[in-house]
Amino acid sequence: MGKKEANWDTLDDVLEGIWKMLDRGVSDYQDPFHWPVLGTTGAKGPELRCVILRGFSRPDRRLVCHTDARAGKIQEIARLSNVSWLFYHPKKKVQLRLAGHATLHTDDDFADRQWAGTRLPSRLLYCTTEPPGTPIDSPSSGWPDFLLHKAPTLFETEKGRPHFAAIACRFDVIDWLVLKLSGNRRARFEWDETGLNANWLIP
Ligand SMILES: Cc1cc2nc3c(=O)[nH]c(=O)nc-3n(C[C@H](O)[C@H](O)[C@H](O)COP(=O)(O)O)c2cc1C
Repeated sequence: MGKKEANWDTLDDVLEGIWKMLDRGVSDYQDPFHWPVLGTTGAKGPELRCVILRGFSRPDRRLVCHTDARAGKIQEIARLSNVSWLFYHPKKKVQLRLAGHATLHTDDDFADRQWAGTRLPSRLLYCTTEPPGTPIDSPSSGWPDFLLHKAPTLFETEKGRPHFAAIACRFDVIDWLVLKLSGNRRARFEWDETGLNANWLIP
């Protein structure tokens, strides 16, 4: 028996498949959709980086990632909220490009809820003394002494909370592409005030 092919026959099937892949990307840390690329606009042009997909809400068309509030991408988004996301699934040969607007959450309820859901190893990321990207003389994690010589407690990692930010993106466009030997397929989904417009495209 051959491998079961995903059902991409109708635009509804495609969108349903996209929602499932994004759900899985959040819940399964081994899934390729767990590691998308987030694109912003920097002072000199596009900026791209891998992030971890922390949340997806279908009704809100919202993707969420976490970052250090002192990171470069925060200033970029504060300047221009347009962002894009790139997902690629090597086995399914599916590429997703999503575009929309991001909001930054550092000290509101949304940020508090997201922080409450983080685990200790993630919290450590926000505990560096200096901001991410600060030049240093020798290789270092940037963690302060209290984190270096013993296993920190969850309470101690609360020190990272002031540096924690959640980025929430509402997307309005999805460009979907699947590579197939029998012929590639591409579709575009765009939401505006009137609702969803969905189209097949020449790949
Ligand atoms: C697999 C992987 C996952 C990453 N996940 C995140 C993440 O969820 N949030 C984050 O801020 N940086 C993450 N990073 C680090 C970023 O790619 C980037 O180096 C860092 O955030 C600084 O980016 P910036 O200077 O553009 O803000 C990840 C890197 C890798 C390789």
